[in-house]
Amino acid sequence: TKADIGLVGLGVMGANLALNIAENGYTVAVNNRSAQKIDDFMIAAKLEGLDGKVMPELDLAAFVRSVKRPRSIIIMVKAGRPVDDMIELLLPLLDKGDAIIECGNSLFSDTEQRFEYLTPKGIGYLGVGVSGGAEGARHGPSIMVGGSREQWENAAPVLKAIAAKFKGESCCAWLGEGGAGHFVKTIHNGIEYGDMQMIAEVYGVMRDGLGMDASACADVFKRWNEGPLNSYLIEITGHVLEAVDSESGKPLVDLILDKAGQKGTGVWSAIAAQELGVPATAIEGAVAARSISSRKNERIAAEGAYGKREGAVDISLDDLEKALLAGKIVSYTQGFSVIARKSEEKGWGLELATIAKIWRAGCIIRSRFLDQMAGAFAGDASTNLLMVPDFVTLMKDCHPALRRVVAAGALGELPLVCLSSALSYFDSYRQGRGTANLIQGQRDFFGSHGFEIEGRGADLHGDWPATIAEAAE
Ligand code: 6PG
Repeated sequence: TKADIGLVGLGVMGANLALNIAENGYTVAVNNRSAQKIDDFMIAAKLEGLDGKVMPELDLAAFVRSVKRPRSIIIMVKAGRPVDDMIELLLPLLDKGDAIIECGNSLFSDTEQRFEYLTPKGIGYLGVGVSGGAEGARHGPSIMVGGSREQWENAAPVLKAIAAKFKGESCCAWLGEGGAGHFVKTIHNGIEYGDMQMIAEVYGVMRDGLGMDASACADVFKRWNEGPLNSYLIEITGHVLEAVDSESGKPLVDLILDKAGQKGTGVWSAIAAQELGVPATAIEGAVAARSISSRKNERIAAEGAYGKREGAVDISLDDLEKALLAGKIVSYTQGFSVIARKSEEKGWGLELATIAKIWRAGCIIRSRFLDQMAGAFAGDASTNLLMVPDFVTLMKDCHPALRRVVAAGALGELPLVCLSSALSYFDSYRQGRGTANLIQGQRDFFGSHGFEIEGRGADLHGDWPATIAEAAE
């Protein structure tokens, strides 16, 4: 008998996905370059009583042959070159009509190139974003599929079965052609960066401005998790803050070095936003904040030069909670606008309601908020969350708190890169007459770039003095 599906790459994510597939009743052939990895995986499968559903094959050709045709082969290797190498190895072994399903955090444009490379060869290619970390992979991730519809239909039963369920609905959907799945996953991660950064900023206000210790902060996050901020990230924040280091007896979070890592998806989100001309200040701020965090030595030197901040700030925990919610509304508005704009450019026809729906469970940004968003997008043609009536009401209720938090942070010398940029975006966005009239004047002054006056037309010019010396006269 042949396996229903194949999976190459038994790292943590790959191994867990394979176990998840087996647990859902499908037979999965597995392969890895290292025999040791396969052995370890089989021990894990046995322990869970799933070894009967798994077919291990060290030889890649035998592995491919062991899968039912038309074959669906999941590859779960490191993004970048390893994906291309794996495609080259698989290519001579596959038959027309087979498909590769690549589930890493790939750059969407790489996925598009691979899609275009394989399509004429008769090999299908699905670029699939999988979110939820190791636990999600094992028990139900959120799955964002891009690529050809036909191949999707072939793999859909397995992918839908292994995905997380939100009130019975599978958090897996085909979103669009080519790189759509990986693009949406990238922006998911950009939004994840924003959420994490805004949470960290609020923690900073509690720790440095309100003098709260880690366990007091943990209690607040636990309480917030019962309210409108209810989400996976708020929940794990509570757990991270309450963990105690067994060696020193101190809160673990107080010992962890304050330098954030990043593997690229946040930067890709920010680049995509800029390229599309869609402001995504919350995501950009979150990426910048990680970069600042990594320059620890410079920060220490600057603290020496400017002096260490101290003292309490005057802000309530209720304001912090509402400020986070307001920041989240702005950040998600921006992230979804990037997706909507890219979809237009590419002709992907992405449905924002579907994306919000499959993010309600399984993924890192899963939250009560996303359920509200799914409802808002479903009932409203607008792609701009800040203009959906329910969210207008919510934002009206929350932005004064965001304002007080940002003001208190500024006066109290506490960095709020993400929250303050979210607020500035909101204030720019809701300003009917902004200040770009002056920019246009400046551009025309030095470079005759032209400006517009309503009722008089575009590409007008000012009667500026020819030189700066003349202007000074
Ligand atoms: C997910 C996560 C995951 C990502 C981590 C780390 O959705 O499960 O986004 O895919 O690898 O978030 O990303 P950074 O190292 O860039 O923080």
